[in-house]
Amino acid sequence: MLRLLFLPLWATRIVFGASTNVQSSESVAPSSVSPSIITSAGSPLATSIQDPASLVNLFIGTRNGGHTFPGATLPHGMVKVGMDTNSPGNHAGYDGDPQFNATGFSQLHDDGTGGAVPLSLFKLWAFKSCGQFDTFEECPTSIASRNAPRKNLSTGLPDDFAEPGYFSSNLSTGIRVELTATRRAALHKYTFPAGTRNPRMVVDITNDGQQSSTDPIMELDSETGKVAGGASFAASFGPDRFRAFSCVDFQGDGFDLGQPKEFGAWLGNFPVKQSTNINQLYFGFRDELGALLTFTPNGNGTTSILARVGVSFISPDQACANAEEEIPDFNLDRVRSSARAQWNELLGRIQVKTDNVDPEIVSLLYSSAYRTHISPADYTGENPKWNSTEPYYDSFYCNWDTYRTLYSWMALHDPDDFARIIRGMINIQQHEGWLPECRGATAQHFIQGGSNGDPILGEFFVKFHEHAAALNVSSSALYTALLADAEKQPPNWDLQGRQVNIWKKLGYIPSDVWEVGGTNTKQVSRTLEYAFDDFAISQVAKILGKKQDGAKYSKRAGNFINVWNPNTTVPGNDSIVGMMQPRFADGTFNFTDPRHCSVNDPTQATCFLNAANKDGFYEGSPIVYTQYVLQDTAKLIQLQGGNQKFIDRLNFIFEQNYFDSTDEPSQQIPFMYHYANRPGLSTQRSRQVIAQFYNTSTNGLPGNDGAMGSFVAFYLAGLYPLPATRQFLLSSPYFPQISFFNPIFGKTTTIKANNFKGNPIDGTGGTVFVKGVKIDGKAWKSNCFIEWEAFQQGSTIELELTDDINVTCGKGSDALPPSLSTGGYN
Ligand SMILES: *[C@@H]1O[C@H](CO)[C@@H](O)[C@H](O)[C@H]1NC(C)=O
Ligand SMILES: *[C@@H]1O[C@H](CO)[C@@H](O)[C@H](O)[C@H]1NC(C)=O
Ligand SMILES: *[C@@H]1O[C@H](CO)[C@@H](O)[C@H](O)[C@H]1NC(C)=O
Ligand SMILES: *[C@@H]1O[C@H](CO)[C@@H](O)[C@H](O)[C@H]1NC(C)=O
Ligand SMILES: *[C@@H]1O[C@H](CO)[C@@H](O)[C@H](O)[C@H]1NC(C)=O
Ligand SMILES: *[C@@H]1O[C@H](CO)[C@@H](O)[C@H](O)[C@H]1NC(C)=O
Ligand SMILES: *[C@@H]1O[C@H](CO)[C@@H](O)[C@H](O)[C@H]1NC(C)=O
Ligand SMILES: *[C@@H]1O[C@H](CO)[C@@H](O)[C@H](O)[C@H]1NC(C)=O
Ligand SMILES: *[C@@H]1O[C@H](CO)[C@@H](O)[C@H](O)[C@H]1NC(C)=O
Ligand SMILES: *[C@@H]1O[C@H](CO)[C@@H](O)[C@H](O)[C@H]1NC(C)=O
Ligand SMILES: *[C@@H]1O[C@H](CO)[C@@H](O)[C@H](O)[C@H]1NC(C)=O
Repeated sequence: MLRLLFLPLWATRIVFGASTNVQSSESVAPSSVSPSIITSAGSPLATSIQDPASLVNLFIGTRNGGHTFPGATLPHGMVKVGMDTNSPGNHAGYDGDPQFNATGFSQLHDDGTGGAVPLSLFKLWAFKSCGQFDTFEECPTSIASRNAPRKNLSTGLPDDFAEPGYFSSNLSTGIRVELTATRRAALHKYTFPAGTRNPRMVVDITNDGQQSSTDPIMELDSETGKVAGGASFAASFGPDRFRAFSCVDFQGDGFDLGQPKEFGAWLGNFPVKQSTNINQLYFGFRDELGALLTFTPNGNGTTSILARVGVSFISPDQACANAEEEIPDFNLDRVRSSARAQWNELLGRIQVKTDNVDPEIVSLLYSSAYRTHISPADYTGENPKWNSTEPYYDSFYCNWDTYRTLYSWMALHDPDDFARIIRGMINIQQHEGWLPECRGATAQHFIQGGSNGDPILGEFFVKFHEHAAALNVSSSALYTALLADAEKQPPNWDLQGRQVNIWKKLGYIPSDVWEVGGTNTKQVSRTLEYAFDDFAISQVAKILGKKQDGAKYSKRAGNFINVWNPNTTVPGNDSIVGMMQPRFADGTFNFTDPRHCSVNDPTQATCFLNAANKDGFYEGSPIVYTQYVLQDTAKLIQLQGGNQKFIDRLNFIFEQNYFDSTDEPSQQIPFMYHYANRPGLSTQRSRQVIAQFYNTSTNGLPGNDGAMGSFVAFYLAGLYPLPATRQFLLSSPYFPQISFFNPIFGKTTTIKANNFKGNPIDGTGGTVFVKGVKIDGKAWKSNCFIEWEAFQQGSTIELELTDDINVTCGKGSDALPPSLSTGGYN
């Protein structure tokens, strides 16, 4: 999650009203489950979900702060065309709450962010008539004047529909809007009610989500009605600005649209007929500007006008070229079905058997998996900062949010996109000096914690180093990029890199040394994250045979212990002794109340990105941060006094509401009982978390989507990833069988829950606990984790389930998941 302190309260901690609404247009279609086919993998599956796109509910999280994007896009597409509303939570444009009016249909969005509203650029709008006399000059072109209420269904929900690659809406004006997308262009269709005499289209050049535009340009071709322009806009989570451009042209659907019968530029609510350039109207201050066109209707029936919109971060000409290249034919059905086919190919690599599974769970899986392919977005060819033949990806929101689960999910079935993203990240490091951390609209955004590009590159390399060359990833460039983060202090570590000088000197980030270079230090979280970043680098170094580096970064991975104060207790509870705490440069500790940033914090402090926050923690309480050291949980258990004490703390976190499903540092906590040899408790907790916080309703996310899609998908698959390692923690899937086809290996890996009896509704109890594991017919050493080899080889992993929550990881010394201090990962 990505948040700034100045966010309004509704965006931070939200109390949800009870609602079971599921968008009626998005029901689970059992017909999409068809009998025996051969998958693209060539591996026969007994049943196969051929049209997984039909199971995706795009409206999940479109209310109450999820900020999900329900519009049309390709997997990792740059263009994300969708409806914008005047909701205060319109970070992705849309709000599923019908009380908010539509304000336009814009071409670019992001999914699941906090901060300020990103993008929402280049809105189109349609008028069926204007004012009393239906004249051009009467058209209320400004965003506040033109907004229209949604049309509601009898269910009270807005009349909106979405599927992967397509969105449609009926507005209260009687106009129907349909949207679809290619990578860098969108196709819109506006169908006006019968009898519309003057169908009019607005092209809005300057209204982004923040009203931040300056320096607009626009040209209108009066003969064709083509409008091209752009402006400079503010980044949503960083200090920079960026320029973006758009190009719109029109065709009649099934008729010759001809020339526009009226045209002109508009400023606010003042359309000026015959003006073709906004510089004629623009007075040098920021305002609302665009073009207005009136077309001749298609007879007395309905008139449908197609609008083709190209987008570019380079120039208006390139925006036009993108549209012409990607949508030469203005064919909505073709573009829509091509988008859907791409989604089906990608999502179809994940297959489940659905016997005894609630259809809502099936939809939750595919909807969550769908949202793992929205960001980062493929802006290749659109980087205004340098030319390169390497891919360019953008919309990293932020690596801090995504490194824990997103890329590991991608590793299971989509190594090609993963590799392209890695190449793009390395290319950014080569040109900017450090790996991207947070990035949007080609601008650097604020770093949340460490340099979390490191574990993402580590995850790629640990899993695909044998195929790096085939995937065009240079191992040496990857390693060089990691070392830059680890060894070279950048001029501004609020935006890239790390505070490495002091890290190298002290082995922690002290809370009383304010170095030049940045303000948002969050010293304790930073220390813990730098340690994990260095762990990821040690994993890569070892694979590359760089023994010394491997040992050096492994040692730095142990630095988390430097902020452990063995004497700190939770006020009111002396049985919990020892906490991660802020530490001064002289080695003594300061005190931050362990309840800080939790719902139990007596001062109700927040821990968002904010230079005034000198308490050392970012988006998580000391209690949560103390429980989460991914690379060395065994050491944490030892520090905390053994398995039972560790389990007591985990229970305390859940029972006393320190677990915060909206914030990433909590994501692994439900699974951590594994390390204390109580995997049954993890299985139950993780299932309770899903039952309590995640569902397919419009308010089915507990906060900003961020990487929640991959987090939920893993929980439903009965796995939890350990990024930059070869291991996955193991629980039981919500399906009798789930499989992943991985194209780089050409193999399908299947997890079978042999005596699957269904899922307990509230996550409690059930025959869901793993008591035995076989891989390819042979007994496996652990009930608590599996290794990447199984996915490389395309293994069949068979789980034996029991209703006994007291299961263990197994008997052998290697049954527990690995930790650094117990010799793991070697
Ligand atoms: C749709 O419902 C919302 C919320 O109840 C309401 O504010 C809006 O006016 C309704 N739209 C129409 C066209 O009645
Ligand atoms: C939506 O538009 C209607 C009609 O113009 C207006 O009455 C209502 O206040 C608007 N709602 C919002 C949330 O702006
Ligand atoms: C809008 O209206 C059309 C009929 O004009 C209908 O086919 C469609 O299902 C409606 N809803 C949406 C969201 O497109
Ligand atoms: C619309 O219908 C009227 C009356 O039926 C007819 O006179 C007129 O020509 C029609 N207009 C068009 C554009 O077809
Ligand atoms: C990229 O190459 C194009 C074509 O040669 C050139 O016009 C443009 O200025 C270059 N961009 C940058 C940022 O160097
Ligand atoms: C790798 O690069 C080669 C040469 O540029 C190209 O032909 C090939 O398609 C690329 N492969 C991938 C997976 O990108
Ligand atoms: C913790 O308490 C012990 C016993 O009072 C003391 O020796 C030690 O220095 C303390 N450690 C820290 C870091 O305060
Ligand atoms: C010690 O921590 C408190 C509470 O977070 C904070 O207000 C204070 O500024 C810190 N002291 C120093 C010297 O950093
Ligand atoms: C204190 O913490 C322990 C866990 O270590 C928990 O079992 C106990 O209920 C807590 N007591 C209070 C009063 O919160
Ligand atoms: C869906 O999830 C939301 C958010 O976590 C929760 O408030 C709501 O009660 C859940 N709805 C159902 C029907 O479980
Ligand atoms: C699991 O262990 C607990 C405590 O030892 C015990 O009360 C419970 O009955 C056990 N559960 C089963 C299913 O054996």
